[in-house]
Amino acid sequence: MRLLITGSDGFVAGSIIAQANGTWEIHGIGRSENPTRVTGVFYHTLDLLDEEGLTGLFNEIRPDAVIHTAAMANIDVCQVNQEQAERVNVGITKTIARLCAEQKVKMVFCSTDTVFDGIKGDYTESDAPHAVNFYALTKIKAEQIVLSSSPVNVVARLALVMGLPVIGQGNSFLADTIAKLKKGVLIPFPANEIRTPVDVITLGSALIELAGNHFGGIIHLSGSTKINRYEMALEIATTLGYPTELIFRANSNAMPGRAPRANDASMDNSLAKQILKTPMRTLSEGLNLTLNFKK
Ligand SMILES: NC(=O)c1ccc[n+]([C@@H]2O[C@H](COP(=O)([O-])OP(=O)(O)OC[C@H]3O[C@@H](n4cnc5c(N)ncnc54)[C@H](OP(=O)(O)O)[C@@H]3O)[C@@H](O)[C@H]2O)c1
Repeated sequence: MRLLITGSDGFVAGSIIAQANGTWEIHGIGRSENPTRVTGVFYHTLDLLDEEGLTGLFNEIRPDAVIHTAAMANIDVCQVNQEQAERVNVGITKTIARLCAEQKVKMVFCSTDTVFDGIKGDYTESDAPHAVNFYALTKIKAEQIVLSSSPVNVVARLALVMGLPVIGQGNSFLADTIAKLKKGVLIPFPANEIRTPVDVITLGSALIELAGNHFGGIIHLSGSTKINRYEMALEIATTLGYPTELIFRANSNAMPGRAPRANDASMDNSLAKQILKTPMRTLSEGLNLTLNFKK
């Protein structure tokens, strides 16, 4: 069975590749000419905005399932580069959904807890999304495209992803936090942002399951601990043995120049617990798993 992973140089993709390798024949599409290579994985260098190139590659690979992780994932960058964010987050998703539908291939799309406005919290799959920033708007549009393209497709809404990169560098706030704690740098963490963080290892395993099982529709992949980002950072510093005085309380919606953030974007993971074999873990369980994970 062939699994195509877009954004293969990214943080989440690294965990998927490390855990699916050996069970699936993996093809990764990334932009880097020189990705961190894992034995047995097929790497393809392509800008996914090249629709013709993507169509040709897709027809060559003929995947059995696709996990679409590639995105412009930085909320503040999307807010000031809206045209590009639309092209990447909506346009590329549309092309991949079309290719998957044409070839009857299951597509698992990585969406986000940020599709919610953060007023209610504890969001379930039946709650209506409502964007508070442009990134969220692009993800909501992409979700609709994926769901309307085929009933077998999955919209996986990812909570804040916590962990160390398994392959390459990736966009890991935990790695950044550890580097700053080592240097003794003071780090602001927003206390207004309540999340249900999921560790990158659990997440990778859940996404692989979804690529290979019969579930179609929306699913929330979130951890079992509801916590604000300031308290989460305190727990991380304590677990790692760094002084908690380096972590200070901030309000993300009061920082000038930042795109608006949802306050309470916590998600209910009951459906994931019901249909997946991968257990949805607490913050401390997930932290332990990512700190001790060996490929
Ligand atoms: N990390 C989180 O906390 C989080 C939470 C919720 C949802 N998500 C979603 O989960 C997915 C994975 O996130 P992540 O943290 O792994 O992000 P990431 O580390 O930034 O990975 C995204 C990858 O997509 C690639 N990409 C972007 N545009 C591309 C293009 N035109 N052609 C080819 N590749 C392209 C990027 O390549 P370059 O490095 O070359 O730009 C990058 O390697 C994203 O869809 C994100 O929106 C993440």
